[in-house]
Amino acid sequence: PALYGATRKNSQGINMNIQKSLTELENAYRPQLDRQWQAAPVINGQTLSGTAQEVRCPFDLNKLVGTAQFATAAQAAQALDGLSAAWPNWNATTIDARASVLERLADLLEKHRPELMALCTVEAGKSLQDGIDEVREAVDFCRYYAQQARLKLGREELKGPTGERNELFHEGRGIFVCVSPWNFPLAIYLGQISAALVAGNVVLAKPAEQTSLIAARALELMFEAGLPKDVIAFLPGDGATLGGVFCRDPRVAGVCFTGSTDTARIINRQLAEKDGMIATLIAETGGQNAMIVDSTALPEQVVKDAVGSAFTSAGQRCSALRVLYVQRDIADRVIDLLKGAMAELKIGPTHLRENDIGPVIDAEARDGLLAHINQLKGEGKLIAEASVAGDLNGHFVAPVAFEIGGIHELKKEQFGPVLHVVRYDAADLEKVVAAINATGYGLTLGIHSRNEETAARIEALARVGNLYVNRNQIGAVVGVQPFGGCGLSGTGPKAGGPSYLLRFVNERTTSVNT
Ligand code: SER
Repeated sequence: PALYGATRKNSQGINMNIQKSLTELENAYRPQLDRQWQAAPVINGQTLSGTAQEVRCPFDLNKLVGTAQFATAAQAAQALDGLSAAWPNWNATTIDARASVLERLADLLEKHRPELMALCTVEAGKSLQDGIDEVREAVDFCRYYAQQARLKLGREELKGPTGERNELFHEGRGIFVCVSPWNFPLAIYLGQISAALVAGNVVLAKPAEQTSLIAARALELMFEAGLPKDVIAFLPGDGATLGGVFCRDPRVAGVCFTGSTDTARIINRQLAEKDGMIATLIAETGGQNAMIVDSTALPEQVVKDAVGSAFTSAGQRCSALRVLYVQRDIADRVIDLLKGAMAELKIGPTHLRENDIGPVIDAEARDGLLAHINQLKGEGKLIAEASVAGDLNGHFVAPVAFEIGGIHELKKEQFGPVLHVVRYDAADLEKVVAAINATGYGLTLGIHSRNEETAARIEALARVGNLYVNRNQIGAVVGVQPFGGCGLSGTGPKAGGPSYLLRFVNERTTSVNT
């Protein structure tokens, strides 16, 4: 059987130590799928009660996965009081002590991998493979930020002409609010929190409404790893209710947010208007991601990478491909192969390995996608649609491809398995890149070309965070493919990259006349 990550090291040579075979892992994961989990607000280590919400599995709505208690606005205020009191002590701990907590957490994530993968499946609808990747990314974030903190945040003497001893060092900013998305309910949730904590901040963690259970389980593991109970407050619940409290509180030093561009704007506005500190916003938001294919590309490889980029995780990745630009000379061939590939896709419950594509997260997401799909079908633009069995009881949207005239026709990001194809003429390559840039988004861009000059030309013109050449455009690897965009896609710096932690700290210097 395939080995997952047995020889996998990150760029710093850390062995990720994931050595189980897929079958062994699957056997451990399967019994976990029928468990029930709970989530509730936790402040200072105390579990509180809130408004109970049933959590149902996105691919089987009869399946109750657990109950989440949503926090109240009063609990958000209480959490900020506790965090404010806890910050000075946590900020005074050594970088090594804080980094060691993350390393112990990484070990615990690996130990509980089957359970966490099961939670990814039953709460977020993820496939077995997506669950493996999710836990691995969470482990990578913990170990990478631990290592980066040791490398980058310590004291450094800045030698120079002043005749004094000048030292640079870093400290946390204070209370960081981490608002994470449901599409990476463990990896991005823990990536944000681990970066904030290791840099010396205390954290108010607000997971997505749809994925409180896995976030609560990860909180238990953080405490088991030795995180002091007072340095994190856990507030599952409604973003609008809770966000209004923490975005207006003078004591909040920063918000780390991954989600929609519209929500990032609301947070930004509220932070700008609040009293107290001028708060930092780190936002990773949406995309309108394209892939440009010229006539030198290999059509089979293009279709494999386009299908993977557009439909993996039911297209619910901010990196996912939305618009495939194909040079007219090979467009018929690519579209034929695309139809064939889409006819092979199997859609269904994601704990079964034979299914390629799972559900979208909830009814609201499905209805929004179906409205877009029905509109384009009505306009006669359909290329191909995969088939979904009629007896499925979940939020399924069949992967679908349309032919459109250009990216400018898309008014907003469709966060699901919808691919748009555009034919272009070779002479218009620069206009294509200009049209992609004109969306204002700048997250991922794929290129398929065997002409290095073409790839270099596109690289120079494109305003994107992550560019992928002759491969798929999802699945950035921590430490070697830092992830994040520009413009409407986010503020930077990139998650999993060498500059990320520096955004969570205050830089200080002390100059001593010796
Ligand atoms: N980091 C993810 C990816 O690269 C998207 O959020 O697919």
